Amino acid sequence: MIEVKNLVKKFGDFTAVNGITLEIKKGEIFGLLGPNGAGKSTTINMLLGLMKPTSGSVYVNGVDMQKDPNKGKENLGVVTQETVVEPELTAEQNLSIFGRLYHVPKDELEKKIGFLLDLADLKAFAKSYAGTFSGGMKRRLETVKALVHDPDILFLDEPTTGLDIQNRTKVWALLRQINKERNVTILMTTQYLEEADQMCNRIGIIDHGKLIALGTPAELRQKTGLNTIIEVSADRDDLAKIAQAFKKMGLDPEIASNKVVASVKNDPVGTMEKLIKAVNATKVKIQSVSMHEPTIDDVFLKLTGSEVRDETGSYAGRPMVMGRR
Ligand SMILES: Nc1ncnc2c1ncn2[C@@H]1O[C@H](COP(=O)(O)OP(=O)(O)OP(=O)(O)O)[C@@H](O)[C@H]1O
Ligand SMILES: [Mg+2]
Repeated sequence: MIEVKNLVKKFGDFTAVNGITLEIKKGEIFGLLGPNGAGKSTTINMLLGLMKPTSGSVYVNGVDMQKDPNKGKENLGVVTQETVVEPELTAEQNLSIFGRLYHVPKDELEKKIGFLLDLADLKAFAKSYAGTFSGGMKRRLETVKALVHDPDILFLDEPTTGLDIQNRTKVWALLRQINKERNVTILMTTQYLEEADQMCNRIGIIDHGKLIALGTPAELRQKTGLNTIIEVSADRDDLAKIAQAFKKMGLDPEIASNKVVASVKNDPVGTMEKLIKAVNATKVKIQSVSMHEPTIDDVFLKLTGSEVRDETGSYAGRPMVMGRR
């Protein structure tokens, strides 16, 4: 459905997208996961034919997006990174204008608007001005707006960034439903690890314009060779000492902003006990220890050496966002 070959975008001397190749099949939910500035929007914009690649090719449904972007777009729904609902129009009017733009027949459009408002959980707000909506409501309205012409493919650039968990969950449910019931292929970008893990059949991890990993969440965990993950968190100043203790036990630790993390193949519980003793012996104050199966956060940390943190900067809460050291 979507075929991207050796896609490159340079802005002067700076290479924002550096040779991305990927294929997305019908019915997939594919997630392009990467931190701020990784090149997600630049990639999406080239896929949409909105931006000319420096080199490489993009085919969507067999259409060359450089040669015939308008034809390619007939079959696409797009939700851009910036919110673009019309604040002076009601929810219903936002959808109806867009439908007319796409020449959706009038009688069909009315039914469709009802269905879409229902899908977005906005039926009660059909006649309210979009300008009065919360961020989550606007995002949901935009998402269903992109579906007004029944596209086979939906592109979403960070559909849930900045939303609280309730709204994020609503957007996820909406996307799952259209994927399942209408077999809409979805390509979304995200900086939320949890979102990629839960929502996407396959994930491409993008960092500095390069696709550094590609596969199902399970494949990514497997490919990185991670086993049970042990984490010890402490004051930033103490992390080097803790990492030393990990190394003495033959582990290969990664240091994030407030924790040391390593993958343990054999006897994780026994290793954990010994590790706590070893760390205690260094007189360092441990804030918490934990053991879990590898998550996409761990995969990202392993691949990039970049830390993973949530919006508040603490590790305890959700949702998680990637950050840089
Ligand atoms: N028009 C432009 N001119 C120059 N540099 C640009 C331009 N557009 C993007 N860039 C740079 O290219 C890099 C990738 O940007 P892009 O917007 O694709 O990242 P992103 O992954 O979408 O990030 P975010 O999560 O912040 O949206 C960034 O370093 C950005 O500053
Ligand atoms: Mg972006």
